[in-house]
Amino acid sequence: MENGKQLLTIDDVLGFSQNDVRNLYKEYVNPGLAQMMGILNFDKRFVKAEGVQVWDEDGNAYLDFLGAYGALNLGHNPPAAKKALEEVQEWPNLLQASLNGMTAALAHNLAQITPGRLQRTFFCNSGAEAVEGALKMARIATGRQRIVYCEGAFHGKTFGALSVTGRSKYQEPFAPLVPGCQAIPYGDVIALENVLAKKDVAAFIVEPIQGEGGVIIPPDGYLAKVRELCSRYGTLFIADEIQTGFGRTGKLFACQHEDVAPDIMCVAKSLGGGVMPIGATITTAEVWDRAYGPMDKALLHTSTFGGNTRAVAVGIASLNAIIEEDLPRRAEVNGQYLLRRLGELQDRHNLITDVRGRGLLVGLEFAKPKGFMNKITKGAVSKLSEEYLGAMVAGDLLNRHQIITAYTLNNPNVIRLEPPLIVTKEQIDQVIEALNETFTRNRSHIQMVMTSTKTVVGSLFGKK
Ligand SMILES: Cc1ncc(COP(=O)(O)O)c(C=O)c1O
Repeated sequence: MENGKQLLTIDDVLGFSQNDVRNLYKEYVNPGLAQMMGILNFDKRFVKAEGVQVWDEDGNAYLDFLGAYGALNLGHNPPAAKKALEEVQEWPNLLQASLNGMTAALAHNLAQITPGRLQRTFFCNSGAEAVEGALKMARIATGRQRIVYCEGAFHGKTFGALSVTGRSKYQEPFAPLVPGCQAIPYGDVIALENVLAKKDVAAFIVEPIQGEGGVIIPPDGYLAKVRELCSRYGTLFIADEIQTGFGRTGKLFACQHEDVAPDIMCVAKSLGGGVMPIGATITTAEVWDRAYGPMDKALLHTSTFGGNTRAVAVGIASLNAIIEEDLPRRAEVNGQYLLRRLGELQDRHNLITDVRGRGLLVGLEFAKPKGFMNKITKGAVSKLSEEYLGAMVAGDLLNRHQIITAYTLNNPNVIRLEPPLIVTKEQIDQVIEALNETFTRNRSHIQMVMTSTKTVVGSLFGKK
């Protein structure tokens, strides 16, 4: 370049060491993240991914039981997505001057498979954006302003989505958020009725199962009651199926466990087949018409990349593959097997206090440290294991057993197991054996902290 600066090429990147990558992150992306990944020893150079597996540069294979937080229901680089990309490679990807057949077809398909009378789709590029679309749609369609959401909820980190994400750690640094948003306890229909009764709430947004909250399943009948209350008080029911959607919980959508249809559904993640960013806000014809029906309102909410050819073509192919391969059923069967095997582990290991989930959205909760141990360590064990036990277990699984997992964002004492839905029983057995080994070696918080000190915790205090 004229000013003597040089640009990197893809070929340069192919020759990088992981140290090169880390240094670039420190300079140009996110130094704190680079440091955190180094501390957790999570920072390997992965060069290949297929199905449930990824490979590092030395050819070691890892099992991915994190599954990109639900974005890899079909596994890494599924053949269906690759084929779709090839099929549309000559099409214009972005051409707002005309209507796109691929976009229309995916909207049609979503209307066929979503519950109730959900019919019209706004396409965007991420989960948070699908939530933004839903919140705006609810306000304009109802003429009301208030939005109710749940404590522990996770709906994304853009301003609107963050305003309905029930964790103060994420909300407080950015206050004031969107006005008119109010949190109530998850699973509490009395609290819901109390806030809806004034008939001034535009929408109640809820996850059918809270993912980041720590894999929390609401009481039986909750969603059916939510449906009833929202209808009674003229509030739109927004179901956030971004993590639970497309077969993850054993049904195509988690709302279907209670045979419930929301007024607005948000999806994203696995709709993109693990290769394209895509989100969608789906609603009924009636709500759409109230929101954006007339021509002068048709462009009130838009996105440049929303509905681009490649993303929606992959969406069409992914959806067809999920249904043809009957992934909801596989999630149900393998999920029951995983839960049963984890239950056996829980009987053997005191550090595991709870095992819960539905389909292949599974959480493993750990014991809080006992008081006397805190006393002798002046709270250090408590602090470390409360905040990092999930990370320590995940670190041990990665570094000793080549298994990728992570703790849930809103509840670091829970690790989630969320493998691609194509996972096999043998791969599940491998994870069970690894967990068994980890908890046999580390029978207490203090042992877990000590073990991790060398790899994980030591470097938190610069002792590495
Ligand atoms: C239920 C739910 N909603 C929304 C989001 C936000 O999606 P994104 O990260 O694509 O913005 C997530 C992400 O984990 C999620 O789990």
